[in-house]
Amino acid sequence: MKEQSLAEKLRQYGAGFTCPMHMPGHKRNSPFPWMEPLAKMDITEIDGFDNLHEADGVLKEGMERMARLWGSRRSFFLVNGSTCGILAGICSLTNPGDKILMARNCHRSVYHAVELNRLRPVYLMPEADDATGILGSIRPEAVRAALEENPDIELAVLTSPTYEGVISDIASIVQVLHERGIPLLVDEAHGAHLGFSEAFSGGAVQAGADLVVQSLHKTLPSLTQTAAIHVGSILVDEDALRRQLAIFETSSPSYLLMASIDSCVRLLEEKGPELFRQYEERLKRFSEQVSCLKHLRVLGYGKDSIENHPAFWSLDKSKLVLLTEGTGLTGPAFARHLRESFRIELEMAQSNYGLAMTSICDSDQNLEQLAEALWILDGRVFPCEKKSACSTPPLLPEQAAYAWEVRNQEVWETDIEEAEGRVLAEYIWAYPPGIPLAVPGERVSGQMLSSWRKMEEAGVCLKSSTGGMAEGTILLLG
Ligand SMILES: Cc1ncc(COP(=O)(O)O)c(C=O)c1O
Repeated sequence: MKEQSLAEKLRQYGAGFTCPMHMPGHKRNSPFPWMEPLAKMDITEIDGFDNLHEADGVLKEGMERMARLWGSRRSFFLVNGSTCGILAGICSLTNPGDKILMARNCHRSVYHAVELNRLRPVYLMPEADDATGILGSIRPEAVRAALEENPDIELAVLTSPTYEGVISDIASIVQVLHERGIPLLVDEAHGAHLGFSEAFSGGAVQAGADLVVQSLHKTLPSLTQTAAIHVGSILVDEDALRRQLAIFETSSPSYLLMASIDSCVRLLEEKGPELFRQYEERLKRFSEQVSCLKHLRVLGYGKDSIENHPAFWSLDKSKLVLLTEGTGLTGPAFARHLRESFRIELEMAQSNYGLAMTSICDSDQNLEQLAEALWILDGRVFPCEKKSACSTPPLLPEQAAYAWEVRNQEVWETDIEEAEGRVLAEYIWAYPPGIPLAVPGERVSGQMLSSWRKMEEAGVCLKSSTGGMAEGTILLLG
């Protein structure tokens, strides 16, 4: 007989009459009516419910089920998002001061791990797609060249798929790295759904990556903050990883969050193939529906195909990148039209595109509503000359110091217009997606300033660690 799901166990316990002389303080008797059904199932590590950090019961079984489903050596539930998995993963695979190879378009959590472990990053800047300016895949040849120049690299980290769905050839990259015994950590925060059907191939665990971090909450039916880390090879010391997870992950993991991971894994195990078949059909219909668009385009859909974008090794079909280039609309303006006229909220917008996320949980109606809105807007926009697509600086800034060397140094808050030639003391990023455009210790160039200006003019929200960017100031070394 199949074991009871964690959600069912919690529901039964909540419906029982055990007197709760333990945490949480709401005592399953919340003063807030909206919280009542949640509070009934919200417990702490009491008898029979296992302990995430020393799992040997129901949570261990759940994590083993997850490992079987993904085909990993071991998998861990995470309740602090991929952020926690990335910090713990990088710290478990490096020693302070190590050199790491990392894609420049990594999420800021990777940069934070670099700071925490005082790592020396060697950046790989993906080439930008000519047609859209979107950053492309990391190429195995680029990894090989970087290793030849830096034989002392201890770890490689990259993001696949990216926010926009750009997938790298993980199997070939793993091969290059493993020739030298170097592990690969893949930030697959946006790709937990990969590997469940042929149309969604390109998953990093199956491709042989050593450590893979996924945000279940981003692309699968699981509550916000839920994530997983999968161990793929013996290059990962599982005890070291456990130690780091104990540092970075809360000691009071939410049972609601863990139950949602458990239910998500069970759903995929039982109904995954059917759900993904229906999902593929929905996306196929969407592709047919948008093939008549004249001005707006959808990356890899309708009349567009990956052959038009040699910078991309593969694309994740779940992301609908709605390209506004040549329509006179910026991405943020386009997103505003969708919100105000069609009640459609996008995931994010950049200078020349908006990003719509899809999942197995979309209804047919969701995608039809989006396709219909695109036809209507397509009829309203005025075609105009294409501007240069590049939305992210393709050149690596000059690195004057490592980010962690800048900490505790004297800094000055300065007008951004006076920053050229000086060394940054804080991160600058576009949010979302939270990828640093510039890192503490990097020298501000005129090209950087003008590309930030262009992004802001297009309505993209730029942020700095200390928040001064909103007032036109920036933190620089003294
Ligand atoms: C590429 C990438 N990695 C990691 C993260 C962090 O994921 P989480 O929000 O689950 O901590 C994000 C979040 O947006 C992301 O875009």
